[in-house]
Amino acid sequence: MAILKIARLGHPVVRARARSVDPAVIPTRDFQRFLDDLVETMHEYDGVGVAAPQVHVSLRVAVLEVPPGHGRGGRRGVPLAVLINPTVTPVSKKRVVGVEGCLSVPDLRGAVPRFEKIRLRALGRDGRPYALTATGFHARVIQHECDHLDGTVYLDRIEDMKTLGFLDEIERFSKE
Ligand code: NI
Repeated sequence: MAILKIARLGHPVVRARARSVDPAVIPTRDFQRFLDDLVETMHEYDGVGVAAPQVHVSLRVAVLEVPPGHGRGGRRGVPLAVLINPTVTPVSKKRVVGVEGCLSVPDLRGAVPRFEKIRLRALGRDGRPYALTATGFHARVIQHECDHLDGTVYLDRIEDMKTLGFLDEIERFSKE
């Protein structure tokens, strides 16, 4: 396995629309190794998700995993998931605002409205289609990662740019 280099905002691959994965490629050794590398990269950088364009691979693939207790409020965890050619459909129009960061936009955090409940359809690493309904932070991570596949980053979704700040400063002043 290998830790892959993260593409930061400004690299064109972050803004490109990624190509769909040919399902015939999924079982190949090279592709399975790429999935392992994507997972290892996410773990190395303590991300809760990473999308292939963030490692300079313009394919519609993302991985996510939320450790139990991640962030504030002792969140429930989300087990490791592989999303290949995913589609996201909002279940209702209700949106909630939450703080997000991104490995391609280091050190910053901002408040982003996201659909509270979504339906995800994707192929898994075994190439089989699956579907699930996600809510709350799980739904947020899915929307964030799937946005990357269309060249969208969370900054594009922020409605109040005054919420954007450096993580260390936000933490410093949120304690006061
Ligand atoms: Ni991101």
